Amino acid sequence: MVKRAGGSLLLSIQIDHAHHHPVSTQLCVALREMILTGGFAPGDRLPASRTLARDLGVSRTTVVEVFSRLTAEGLIESATGSGTFVSAVLGGDRPMPSRAKVAASEPLAPKLSAVMQEAVSHLGERQRLPHAPRAFTTGLPAFDAFPRAQWARLSAKWLRGSLSDVMGYGDPFGALNLRRALASHLRGNRGITCDPEQIFILGGAQQAFHLIGSMLLNPGDKVWFENPGAIGARNSLIASGADLIPVPVDDHGLCVEEGLRLASRFRLAFVTPSHQQPLGSVMSLARRFALLRAAEDADAWVIEDDYDGEFFFAGRPPPTLKSVDTTGRVIYVGTFSKSIFPALRLGYVLAPPALVATFQTILSRFLQGVPSHTQGVVAEFIDEGHFAVHVRRMRQIYFERHEALARAAQQHLGGLLEVVPAKSGLHTVGYLAPGLSEASVSRGADERGVTVSPLGRFAISPLAVSGLVLGFGSSAPPAIEAGVKVLAEVLRGQRRG
Ligand SMILES: Cc1ncc(COP(=O)(O)O)c(C=O)c1O
Repeated sequence: MVKRAGGSLLLSIQIDHAHHHPVSTQLCVALREMILTGGFAPGDRLPASRTLARDLGVSRTTVVEVFSRLTAEGLIESATGSGTFVSAVLGGDRPMPSRAKVAASEPLAPKLSAVMQEAVSHLGERQRLPHAPRAFTTGLPAFDAFPRAQWARLSAKWLRGSLSDVMGYGDPFGALNLRRALASHLRGNRGITCDPEQIFILGGAQQAFHLIGSMLLNPGDKVWFENPGAIGARNSLIASGADLIPVPVDDHGLCVEEGLRLASRFRLAFVTPSHQQPLGSVMSLARRFALLRAAEDADAWVIEDDYDGEFFFAGRPPPTLKSVDTTGRVIYVGTFSKSIFPALRLGYVLAPPALVATFQTILSRFLQGVPSHTQGVVAEFIDEGHFAVHVRRMRQIYFERHEALARAAQQHLGGLLEVVPAKSGLHTVGYLAPGLSEASVSRGADERGVTVSPLGRFAISPLAVSGLVLGFGSSAPPAIEAGVKVLAEVLRGQRRG
């Protein structure tokens, strides 16, 4: 081994005794970085632990501990009597990859797959909107009304269960008690009769869209997609190589005739029949049957995204598409993001019989399920009846919040924003008066602490209307009223401007 001091280099190591990372971690990270980025050559000798400790003003024990960590990682090695050296294994014919070089140069341009490259460049400039629960953030349930104490109790109870349930690999298809609970929930509340075996638990509806896209689509396959439509599903399907066909939506839901005119040979259709995302219309029965017929003719699948179907507050909820599907082509996707809360990252697929074996293969071979704890607590929450009570209570709360929005809009937004009455869910839309721009209104509102989502964010081809999506689920009536007043000021200011 070459004997070189290498001592002076180490003076560049800065130890901050006030930092929240322990001194040993700081020293270990600094030495590791130097070794890996070529600050030392293989075979270089490190200063003696006593010397290094003195130079850096740290204890010798700390240095000895760090040396032993780096030795365990194989980065350095000790030779009795002659000192500590940078491991010779790091040498060889090729120079070490230099992180310093990478950091200083242009950001790496990774070679993505053609499909992902296309998706990333397609979606590149779109910003994520704030997700804080304030007026009129979309997609968030009423956090303030969630029974946290009950949840904490069930969570603690679950953790006291058997070690293998708490710590082991769970069922890759999802916990059976949750799948049973869901089958019974779907029968009782969504009119769907199914076998628990058809239900697969996933990390949110978003993972379901991604999985279905990668399972069923070849790059370039035509996918009917509501225009405007759901942002997350759109992104996932694009990332699976879909050629999205923007099918318009009206008061009766997806315009099937128009879809047929644009692309009668399609592979998949994505719809939100119970509460169109974002416009809010309910798909008529005639359109549902027309869609199923079109799918049958094209040998296509249909994704039904029933993201907030539990929250229909204007009379009886419409049937799900799945409940009238006689073709076996509807893949039903549900989520707990609205009915419980989104941090759970819990959703599910109800697969038609023809796809059950495929889901089983994919989930058991390529994925290993989602956290057992979350599933266990949700299953108990449903089984003990809290879910039903919660949903019933939330439905009333969303009704009241919607009323608060409608009242305030009538008082303050006349001639500026036409807020459409909603029948269901946690959001509605408002159409902007001519001359007002979605983008500048939403920027102006954001500066005043109010989030509105431009309708254009949901578009996959230009829309004839201009408007804002307004969430009312996450704010109590006083905050909604205050938000409407702010929005009115922003709109008036923009109109004057
Ligand atoms: C249309 C639509 N579907 C599904 C979801 C739920 O997705 P996830 O279960 O991944 O949270 C959302 C979330 O806002 C949504 O807007």
